[in-house]
Amino acid sequence: MKIKAFRKAHFNAAHRLYRKDWSDEKNFQVFGKCSNPKFHGHNYELVVAVTGEIDPETGYLIDLKILKDHIKNEVEEYMDHKNLNEEVEEFATLNPTVENIAVVIWDRLRKKLASKYDIEVTLYETPRNFVTYKGE
Ligand code: NI
Repeated sequence: MKIKAFRKAHFNAAHRLYRKDWSDEKNFQVFGKCSNPKFHGHNYELVVAVTGEIDPETGYLIDLKILKDHIKNEVEEYMDHKNLNEEVEEFATLNPTVENIAVVIWDRLRKKLASKYDIEVTLYETPRNFVTYKGE
């Protein structure tokens, strides 16, 4: 019997989508306003889903306090109010698109959570634009 638990979180961060090997004009053609050389911010909304079995001893799938603390340490304190391109090492050479941010968050949480859990990350860059990633 599988059950899925969810935890929501939020962070604000700045980014610029661009390739260093492209001109500003080409970056603007591909990435639009998100390639603004002066950067800009988004209010990211995160939903982390953890799937697994209920522990018969505790009745828990996972202690949600533990999940909350990992999200706080690995995502919120790591990315909130940061310039992703300049201050978050994963994006030194990786374009901080919502897709890549979701993958980075998943990788960071995967290292912290027991392998018996399946993890799925849903990341909203705007209320209408979001992605999901579950490590596949
Ligand atoms: Ni943007």
